[in-house]
Amino acid sequence: PKVKGLRGNDYYLYQGFWYSSFFLEGLMSVHEHFNPQSTDIFVASCPKTGTTWLKALTFAILTRSRLSGSTTSSLLTKMPHDCVPFLEYHLARNPSNRDLAIPLLSTHVPYSCLPKSIISSSCKIIYICRDAKDAFVSLWCFVSAHQMSKNVEPLPLEEAFEMFCNGISILGPYWDHVLGYWRASLEFPEKILFLTYEEIKKDTAAHVKKLAEFMGCSFTLEEEEEGEVQEIISMCSFEKLSNLEVNKNGKHRLDTSIAIQNSLYFRKGEIGDWANHLTPEMGARLDDIMERKLKGSGLKLPR
Ligand code: A3P
Repeated sequence: PKVKGLRGNDYYLYQGFWYSSFFLEGLMSVHEHFNPQSTDIFVASCPKTGTTWLKALTFAILTRSRLSGSTTSSLLTKMPHDCVPFLEYHLARNPSNRDLAIPLLSTHVPYSCLPKSIISSSCKIIYICRDAKDAFVSLWCFVSAHQMSKNVEPLPLEEAFEMFCNGISILGPYWDHVLGYWRASLEFPEKILFLTYEEIKKDTAAHVKKLAEFMGCSFTLEEEEEGEVQEIISMCSFEKLSNLEVNKNGKHRLDTSIAIQNSLYFRKGEIGDWANHLTPEMGARLDDIMERKLKGSGLKLPR
């Protein structure tokens, strides 16, 4: 089945999730050509849940001076998505990008649609998600801004919301994306680290240390004393990243034909901004849907 998607493009239902044709082609190519290495680490997420931030944090942790020997970070001159390539966009179309200095990659592919090779190898996956209302608003703002930059009329918020509540959004149903990784993280805790945007915001230092430990490169006592954790947090903060020249004015290429303004990846960076866009009734409706969908899973997302 296909429907008119949020971008005005068609969405296709494939193995229970909604894809754009561009994304679906990328996924097919991944299934055909991609071979993970056992040391690969994936940042996984549904779009607009904090991927850019998690990429910046994991990249900064893995390339900190003790490990890389360099005191200047590429994050100062390169967009986080150009530091950590997407499996289904960059690597599927340009396998030479596999030649990574560090084994850090990312994906929006739902857990059940990942290639078996990734699931059965010893690669690690770090998943991030966030409150569904904030994820929806972030997505709607991102897509609308991108469309307006191309003089395309965006879909009205109410219409997009109705679709989201019916499970129709890029890589949606949102709850199924989250549940796929949640259940897998319960089954394979040493392989999958399940995090939320809200908990990282609440205690970023504890999560930077947790990420380092999970990726097998814990901070030494000396590093902690020298304020390395704090430096990583500041370098990856919304204020710092969104004000860098590359992120203010640059464009990020998903393909030769698709470029997105880097600034669109940095909007507000806050928890609860949904209330400025949705009515309390809309908020309560989505909360209710999420509660019903997650019931019995043991997962409670922050609201
Ligand atoms: P908002 O639209 O709510 O502001 P993704 O990276 O998955 O596309 O998610 C984008 C969301 O993460 C946007 O949320 C964006 O502003 C926020 N974000 C980007 N960089 C961030 C950072 N360094 N710290 C916190 N939030 C960040």
